[in-house]
Formats: sequence, structure tokens, C-alpha cells
Amino acid sequence: MNIGIDQIGLYSPHYYVDLAELATARGVDPNKFIIGIGQSQQAVPPSSEDVVTMSADAAQDFIHEINTSKIGLLIVGTETGIDASKSAAVIAQRLLELPETIRTYEIKQACYGGTAALMTARDYVAAHPDKTALIFAADIARYGLEDGGEVTQGAGAVAMLISANPRLMTVEDDSQFISRDIMDFWRPVYTDLALAKGKYSTEQYIQFFQDVWRNYTQATGRSLSDFAAINFHLPYTKMGMKALRTVLPEADVATQGRLTDNYALATIYSRQIGNIYTGSLYLGLLSLLEHSTDLQAGDRLGMFSYGSGAVGEFFSGVLQPGYADQLHAAAHQQLLANRSKLSVADYERVFLNKVPYAADDYVSDTSMQTGKFRLTGVQNQERQYTIK
Ligand code: HMG
Repeated sequence: MNIGIDQIGLYSPHYYVDLAELATARGVDPNKFIIGIGQSQQAVPPSSEDVVTMSADAAQDFIHEINTSKIGLLIVGTETGIDASKSAAVIAQRLLELPETIRTYEIKQACYGGTAALMTARDYVAAHPDKTALIFAADIARYGLEDGGEVTQGAGAVAMLISANPRLMTVEDDSQFISRDIMDFWRPVYTDLALAKGKYSTEQYIQFFQDVWRNYTQATGRSLSDFAAINFHLPYTKMGMKALRTVLPEADVATQGRLTDNYALATIYSRQIGNIYTGSLYLGLLSLLEHSTDLQAGDRLGMFSYGSGAVGEFFSGVLQPGYADQLHAAAHQQLLANRSKLSVADYERVFLNKVPYAADDYVSDTSMQTGKFRLTGVQNQERQYTIK
């Protein structure tokens, strides 16, 4: 039985900061951010958006076209959840007016959480082929103003419906994965700002890729020439290319060209949005599918997932006949094209206006645009949401 991604949706906030302007404000050569890191813009979420609202907004691409009574599992993969106990998933379930008869929870392992949700959903559908699973990979990446990681912030959510006989892409049963307890990136519970050992994290990312790729080739007998494209977790768009370059010499010239060209297509959305942690790999997949004119049904795509701390996984998917009919390319390109640019000063103001790490009541800035769903604030330590 084929199992995989039947539907995929995207949401990212209506505001961004220009990274050449941010570089200038930080006294950095803009080419470092734009070429050296590979980021041009960064999504800036107002405090009225969080992983709950962004997840529910990402589902709007397809939720009204699917049979929601078949959903048996709903998972939010996130590392920027809104409560240490309650999952974002149960709130998203209510906002989306889904049936109660759904098993609903949140998964965490840094950026690997999206893939953890996907693989759990795959197993669920294998055991219950008549059911579907709705999964979200949603995050707000925050390192702090003037922090070395500031250029790699971002915000957004990817929603996916996992089913038998998927119309978009299968998720093959060929995963290779590795877990190792390392401290390359983490976020203590008292802060919403991530800590990273920048250089060490990039080295670990590459090491994990090389290790799971080696195990994958040994287990499957496949090589780079079997892939139309390889998608990478994209904390910033240069990162995946650094990893890809370490294996490209294994391939013939045509394969090298194809993988390099498709890597560029997979980074178009990330370059404008930034790191969305759990969703970044799937944002790259979406970017590739929505910009390629060469991909065809039957093409195999490689997927490298990395979550600091750390877990790495490599698996593949096969594009299904008519897969392009399931995409919402025009809507996603419009979502990004219609965003408002914030000055660096306004970005800093928005960044610092946030739900406090305290028992205080809070009212979010009502002047800022959101998607269909909005966090209006916090009253008596309970988050308040509205639907437009
Ligand atoms: P940095 O120290 O600011 O940058 O850290 P750098 O000095 O290493 O320079 C970056 C690149 O810009 C270099 O190129 C420079 O040569 C180039 P590279 O050697 O890498 O090819 N450069 C220039 N290029 C053109 N013109 C110029 C110029 N100047 C320099 N004028 C870093 C950068 C990304 C490490 C930092 O921003 C950071 O710490 N980010 C957060 C951590 C991170 O994203 N790590 C990635 C791997 S870990 C991961 O992916 C997991 C994660 O998503 C979290 C999770 O799992 O939950 C982060």
C-alpha cells in the first residue's frame, strides 16, 4: 500500500524585514547575509500569531476540500509550543472545527519534530488505511536582536494530510535515522530565544547528513543518480548546499547539474521566509514542487531531516500522477508577494512586543494583520483566540 502526503498547505506571516537593511543596521556587509548565509528576507510574526494560529492558517489551503471525518490523528510538530503542558494541537483542532474523535497531541525534537509527526502519521495510516492523519510543522525561530543567529530567524507553518494512496507524494518505507545526544542548539524553558553553537551546529548537520546518507545507500543500493532532487532541512539556504557538496563528487555530471538546479528551486521560499524549524524541510519540498517545470510523476525525491540535539533522518518520496493539481502555487506566491516590509526599527518593536514569560494579562497589537486566526491576548493566564 502506498502511503504519503495527499495535501500540503503553507502559512507565513504578513510582514518581513529586508536582510540587506538588517545587515546595514548591524554593521555587516549585506553580501554576508544575502550570499554568505543565503537569506534575502525574514518573516516577522506579530504577537497575535503563534504556532496554533499559523498551523490552522496553513490548513486553510485544503481543509474545506477533504473529508474531515476520516482524520483519526492530529499532531503538531513544534519546538516553539505555547504551553509546557497543553499541546497546540488541541487548540488547532477546535479552531478548525474538527471532530472530537481525533487523537491529538504535540511532538518535540527541535527541527526534527515535523518529520517525527510525518513518520508517526505514516505508521498510523499503515495500521488504519481508511483513516487519515493531519500533521503540522510550525515554528517561530527567535535568536534575539543583534545575536549571531538573528539572520536565521523566521516564522511559518506547513500543514500536511497523510493518507493511503496519496495524490501528491508517497513517503517510502526506506528511512535511515541516527540519534546522538549533542549540544549544538537548544532553548531552556525560561526563554523564547534559542541558543546555538553556530559553527558546531553546521558541522554536526553535515556529519549527520553524511552518516544517514551512507547508511541509506548501503541499505537500499541507491545512489545520487536515482534522485530527481534532494531536499534538505533549511535553517538558511546555504546550509543544505554545504551538505550536498560533500556528496556531489559521487555523481555523474548530469546528476550533479540536476541536483544543484533543483536545490536552488527548493530554497526560493526559505530565502524569503527564513528558518521555520520543524517545517523548513517541507517548505523546501513545497518550493521545489511549486517552482519546477521539469519534475514528473514517478520521480524520486530525497529528504534529509535534521533536528539539533540531535536526530537526522534520510528518506525518499515518489511523486504521484497529477501531483501538480494538488498544489496551491499561485496562492503561496501571492501570500509572499503581498507581505508588508517592516523597517528595521519596526521589526525590532514587533520582535520585542510578545506574550510575557509571566502571569500578566496581555493584549496583542490589534493593528497588525493576521491570517484567519488570531491570538488576541492572554487573560487570567489563558490564551485567547478568535476566528475572522
Ligand atoms: P556567522 O559566524 O555569522 O557566519 O554564523 P560566518 O562567519 O560563518 O559566515 C557565514 C558565511 O558567510 C561564510 O561562508 C562566509 O565566508 C560568508 P561559508 O564559509 O559558510 O560558505 N561571508 C560572506 N559572503 C559574501 N560576502 C561577504 C561575506 N562575509 C562572510 N561579505 C551561522 C552563521 C549560520 C552559524 C549563525 O547565523 C548561527 O549560529 N545560526 C543559528 C544556528 C544554525 O542555523 N545552525 C545551522 C545548523 S543546525 C540546524 O540546522 C538546526 C536548527 O534549525 C535548529 C533545530 O534543529 O531546531 C538551527
